[in-house]
Amino acid sequence: MFGQIENTTILKYDQQVPRYTSYPTAPHFNSSVNDEVYVGWLKALPNQETISLYIHTPFCNQLCWYCGCYTKATNRYAPVEDYAHILAREIRIIGNLLRQKKCQVSHIHFGGGSPTILLPDTFENLIKTIRSEFEIKKDAEIAIEVDPRNVNEEKVATYAKAGINRVSIGVQDFNLEVQKAINREQSFDVVYDCVKLFRKFHINNINLDLIYGLPKQTLEMVKKNIDFSMLLKPSRIALFAYAHVQWKKKHMRLIDENDLPGGENKLAMYQAAAKKLNEEGYFSIGLDHFAKSDDSMFEAFHEEKLKRNFQGYSTDNANCIIGFGASAISYLPSGYAQNTLDFEEYKKNILSEKLPVIKGVEINKEDKIRKKIIDELMCYMEVDLKKICEEFSLPKNSFNQEIELLENLKSDGLVRIKNNKIKINLAAPQISRVVSSVFDKFFQPEAQRHSKIA
Ligand SMILES: C[S@@+](CC[C@H](N)C(=O)[O-])C[C@H]1O[C@@H](n2cnc3c(N)ncnc32)[C@H](O)[C@@H]1O
Ligand code: SF4
Repeated sequence: MFGQIENTTILKYDQQVPRYTSYPTAPHFNSSVNDEVYVGWLKALPNQETISLYIHTPFCNQLCWYCGCYTKATNRYAPVEDYAHILAREIRIIGNLLRQKKCQVSHIHFGGGSPTILLPDTFENLIKTIRSEFEIKKDAEIAIEVDPRNVNEEKVATYAKAGINRVSIGVQDFNLEVQKAINREQSFDVVYDCVKLFRKFHINNINLDLIYGLPKQTLEMVKKNIDFSMLLKPSRIALFAYAHVQWKKKHMRLIDENDLPGGENKLAMYQAAAKKLNEEGYFSIGLDHFAKSDDSMFEAFHEEKLKRNFQGYSTDNANCIIGFGASAISYLPSGYAQNTLDFEEYKKNILSEKLPVIKGVEINKEDKIRKKIIDELMCYMEVDLKKICEEFSLPKNSFNQEIELLENLKSDGLVRIKNNKIKINLAAPQISRVVSSVFDKFFQPEAQRHSKIA
């Protein structure tokens, strides 16, 4: 058993390390992966492979100052509609490439930005295109990220008809003072009506996104956010640590850094919220997720089928994700491939029937082994290196060097190591990022900037 842990001990490791939504991580993508390489990878997929689709909509009505996503504010619909037409073409190009393989789609994720900005007709056209190009499994999960400020009955009816069966609603914080400091005013009523609308159309798998560590936020406010969330009875909650990456996202500089809670406060916020959620029957999963026992993420966690990907945690059991849209990242058995972030370049490529891939990284055997170790640490807060060595026929001392590097964390009571099995103290899941970085062959703390772990 782990003993009691002081926050000052956790804060000794409050370093800038990746969140490991991929391995190798995005800063290591390079231009050797282009459209030709990617097409080769797609063609190498086995017949009837189970695949997952990610569709990116990089538009929002207004920009939230904390936002780390790839998106753009617009008050005109024309560019959104224009983009959706190009997206449909991209879907057709890949559909054509994979037609003979008869791949089975187990999961579709509409992410962003705010896919709920799409008008019903546009959304219907997209889903029709997807259904005409791909075989969607009957029990597929079809999920959408929802900005509660831009849904209405007509849109939700369209989602229900399209087969959407899971929604992730952006809440962040219910307090008006915090909302003003992040440029996102959204009353409890707006979220309440949004949840009610989805339930009216029998879409009951509801996740709420909350963030702690926002400007002007206090511990009391975070606890209140949980109380308010409980009134909405979601099946899952994502409680993200605010990642302040102002060197990468210029709009984050609009946030007054004096208003940001420090590391110690952030840890206290996470702990208080997690305790309340656990008491309410939500089980902690990974770094930042909480699920009721009837939620599919709880099941995936217990069956050891949980995945770590660019959406965070996922119950998706496909071995590859095909990303569509500007900035979207695909993950195939051969590697990662990312589309251009530039709209004009994206459009130009698609209109000349060329896939808009600009970078990525090929994955070799060693990367696969390290990815597996990091995924286990991030998903389950433990990894059995003995089993990994057996599975990949490696000498049993293959990770002795990494184990040595964990010595300080071990003597501080943040990890336990026995018979080559590493367990992270569940009181500090944030430490999983630090432990993962020890197994990350490419990690150079001086060369890249990341958010801190607290
Ligand atoms: C694409 S948005 C969700 C849908 C919709 N755009 C909305 O905001 O309502 C994805 C989620 O990422 C989280 N997020 C965005 N920027 C973040 C940051 N810098 N740190 C932590 N979480 C962040 C927010 O919780 C947000 O709801
Ligand atoms: S958090 Fe959501 S609504 Fe806000 S800017 Fe980011 S993607 Fe858009």
